[in-house]
Amino acid sequence: MKNINICIAGLGTVGSNVILSLNENNDYIKSKTNLSFNILGVSAKNKFKKRICDIKNFTWCENPLDLLNIKDCNILIELIGEEKGLSFDLVKQALEKKIHVVTANKALLAMNGSELFKIAEHNNVLLLYEAAVAGGIPIIKSIKNSIYLDKINKISGILNGTTNFILTEMEKFNLDFQEVLKRAQSKGYAEADPTNDIEGIDSAHKLTLLSTLCFGSEINFKNNKFSGIGNIHIEDIHNAKKLGCRIKLISESQIIEGKIINVTEPRLIKIENPLANVDGVINAINVETKHLQSLFYAGEGAGGKATASAIISDLFEISNNSKSLSLGYKISELISFQSFDLMEKISPYYLRIVSKDLTGVLSKITSFLNESGISIETILQIPENQNNNNSIPIIIVTHDTKKSSLMIALEKIEKQEFILEKIVLINMDKNY
Ligand code: HSE
Repeated sequence: MKNINICIAGLGTVGSNVILSLNENNDYIKSKTNLSFNILGVSAKNKFKKRICDIKNFTWCENPLDLLNIKDCNILIELIGEEKGLSFDLVKQALEKKIHVVTANKALLAMNGSELFKIAEHNNVLLLYEAAVAGGIPIIKSIKNSIYLDKINKISGILNGTTNFILTEMEKFNLDFQEVLKRAQSKGYAEADPTNDIEGIDSAHKLTLLSTLCFGSEINFKNNKFSGIGNIHIEDIHNAKKLGCRIKLISESQIIEGKIINVTEPRLIKIENPLANVDGVINAINVETKHLQSLFYAGEGAGGKATASAIISDLFEISNNSKSLSLGYKISELISFQSFDLMEKISPYYLRIVSKDLTGVLSKITSFLNESGISIETILQIPENQNNNNSIPIIIVTHDTKKSSLMIALEKIEKQEFILEKIVLINMDKNY
């Protein structure tokens, strides 16, 4: 029996579930692996908080940094969750002491991971993070182990449960964004400060790690372009439905013309695409490789049990595989890609143009689009939405176009006297 000694910093839902799960499954793990995971020490803000697990048999450290002085600790699990600060200091010092680290902290790794991964490699220890991306979905190990030798062309997915929950509820109950956000906060599904989720930052943190694994890019959060769901209107969700689509917050990474494109944005996705049918807090990821047209994963992206499952898989990897590389690449092999200019990206777009209901407006709008070489795929004029102001929403779906050309046309259209509101522009999935 090989003993693996663990310390845990942070005992919220995830930390408590890790302890519970290791206790409950101890015999099962031993019988399957000949490994015994022993928790030596723990640290959290409040020792006496009511928890689902018992911590009385572990050494309690008021200061998480003291966990690193516990004799024979092999693995530190960091669940404090700060982007820098104490999380960074703790992980750095653990790696410097040649203690392996497991973390669920995507913000820490996406923003400050480069230095930490270097220290890990230098000291021949692992810094693992299966729990940091898409909770219980084993996407990191799939990329690093199973499809490592298959060239990845593109990875895309729904990486944030909170925003997917909000979009799903808006559609289901015909509600505006703000109303659903309030409901989600009151039920505890969304954080009191939901900025990171709503604005796409949390998804971009996760995508940063995925793009490094898929393409060997240096960890660089600045390569991300992200926009969130705060501007998605319920009428756009209804219009999407009329077009056979749903709106989802999609994160996508690929290399185009030798440049990296890491983008998180709301998109209209065709209902036939499995990503369109992922509802509620579920996460999903689609990987396209040289050999696999579509490798699709869906599952619980957050929550105590799902995240604990990912953390335990990292404990197993560390215990089992000394040849493993944290990022799948040696640090010296990572490439510093230039960022692809999104204005140059070619894809179809959805436009909602609110105009006065006058003769000739449609032909004027389409002529501006024609001038910029933009071809129209679908036009929907929605008379039932007509209101007392004599305004009318015109929905246009373009064929593939460069965003830069579209922006020139939209600027001209918005200057017209018959245009009543800022034009709503939403990206459409390339496979629309
Ligand atoms: N805030 C995240 C989400 C939690 O909503 O998906 C998991 O990273």
